[in-house]
Amino acid sequence: MLSAMSAPQGQGPTFRELVVQALSSVEHGYDLLAPKFDHTAYRTPGPVLTSVTGALRPLGPFGSGLDVCCGTGAGMGVLRQVCRERITGVDFSAGMLAVARDRTRAAPDAPRTDWVRADARALPFAPVFDLAVSFGAFGHFLSRERPGLFAQVHSVLRPGGRFAFPIVAPARPGSRPYWSLLAFDTAMRVRNAVWRPRFVMYYRTFRLGDVWKELIGAGFEVELRPLDDLGRRADGSPRCRLVVATRPV
Ligand SMILES: C[S@@+](CC[C@H](N)C(=O)[O-])C[C@H]1O[C@@H](n2cnc3c(N)ncnc32)[C@H](O)[C@@H]1O
Repeated sequence: MLSAMSAPQGQGPTFRELVVQALSSVEHGYDLLAPKFDHTAYRTPGPVLTSVTGALRPLGPFGSGLDVCCGTGAGMGVLRQVCRERITGVDFSAGMLAVARDRTRAAPDAPRTDWVRADARALPFAPVFDLAVSFGAFGHFLSRERPGLFAQVHSVLRPGGRFAFPIVAPARPGSRPYWSLLAFDTAMRVRNAVWRPRFVMYYRTFRLGDVWKELIGAGFEVELRPLDDLGRRADGSPRCRLVVATRPV
């Protein structure tokens, strides 16, 4: 599984680098991975970002946007296309933020861009955002931390503001992805039982039913939009949906 994350032509991390990263804390692990992160499969793929941008357009344009756990800035590219005033990326890895800053070219018509180092569980913002997005990071939060995380996002949105993120349909029980994800999560649980610092990264804990209830509990109104361009499963259901949680006016 780890070797599958290495990019072709030696641009991605080596197996040894991935092992060192996996034995670190989440924050330090990403600091180490940052220079090569964009060559791994952990970066949210372009088609997902394009699809989410397309689904957000009819809901916008938005004024100011926040990318929660922005990493090297994948979601900032989405915000740049749907927000007019100001966009902010927040992440706790200084290494990831440094790469993000370096790679951002200031286009003359781009909204003002800020990068903030902070823990998403304690966001240092007033309610000033019209849109918050997050990509590829929910596996880093324990299930019990999620209500607090959602409450934090709710608290930084203006009334009427939206919190949007894609959610992938769960792997069919017995399928290859099902067993791969189960094996990965089991390996991480064993690792975290015997090694400190913990590296929290679980694929199978982010389930739509739980997430829906927790968003409602945090005060959001929730709707789902199919991301049709990302395909459908054999039973006709969408492979991926956009969760749109709105802070009521
Ligand atoms: C898999 S990367 C995803 C990055 C980017 N959103 C993307 O889709 O390419 C996960 C990111 O979440 C950040 N992260 C994890 N837990 C965090 C927390 N509690 N507060 C802030 N950032 C966090 C990591 O530093 C890392 O940059």
